[in-house]
Amino acid sequence: MEDKMNTTAPRHIGIIMDGNGRWATRRNLRRTRGHSEGIHAAKRVVLEAITQGIEYLSLYAFSTENWRRAEDEVAFIMALVARNLRNQYAFYRKNNVRVIHTGDIRKLPEEVRREIARVTEETAGNTAITVNLAVNYGGRDEIVRAVNRWLQQRDADENPRFCETQLRDHLDHPEMPDPDLVIRTGSEQRLSNFLLWQCAYAELLFSDRLWPDWNAQDLRDAIDWFRGRKRNFGGMR
Ligand code: IPE
Ligand code: IPE
Ligand code: MG
Repeated sequence: MEDKMNTTAPRHIGIIMDGNGRWATRRNLRRTRGHSEGIHAAKRVVLEAITQGIEYLSLYAFSTENWRRAEDEVAFIMALVARNLRNQYAFYRKNNVRVIHTGDIRKLPEEVRREIARVTEETAGNTAITVNLAVNYGGRDEIVRAVNRWLQQRDADENPRFCETQLRDHLDHPEMPDPDLVIRTGSEQRLSNFLLWQCAYAELLFSDRLWPDWNAQDLRDAIDWFRGRKRNFGGMR
């Protein structure tokens, strides 16, 4: 059995942080309370990811489809994102966390855009982990934006053939390795438009636990599960 084990640790973990609303409604609280609790879970998981030597952690916070929610919930989430980016500098500094953003920043409220610009600049030199915040992120949207970037930047005289490398090079963060492991909390078993291009060979773990309940042990269990996978990448077992 031992030779079937995957001994490499994941370099990049993606998390679809789902279940905030259900966590709150089960407690007779407003859905927005679930989003606030989700911030605590995110901090617990970031700290454990650092302990585990994870280089990149992509956190899905708001999708391009989440604008369909009630206006007050959307406004709450936007304010929560802005406030937490602004208030967590001690956390980033103490734990040496670099924060980057993926998604279409142009459609975000001015306050959120400002905080994203500031946090990415101020934490650029931190090296313990890169936390990639997906806010107004959609996998299809990212691919379309990548193609448009390529169209704008390509040299018209050169061979305009489009290939996988060119798409990859125009994604939001071409330097980032593909996620090895993608976790979705809150029982649903779908990607909901998360990192579609990059997930081609990701191991997918679906957890019943709601995001606000996630803790360090859950992440350790997920990494142990990952280590038990045999990855083939289309080759032979
Ligand atoms: C995930 O939790 C957070 C966002 C999508 C912003 P949900 O708000 O989707 O929680 P459920 O799925 O309704 O429980
Ligand atoms: C996915 O959760 C998006 C985030 C966690 C940010 P959703 O709750 O929006 O996904 P669906 O609508 O159930 O697929
Ligand atoms: Mg949900």
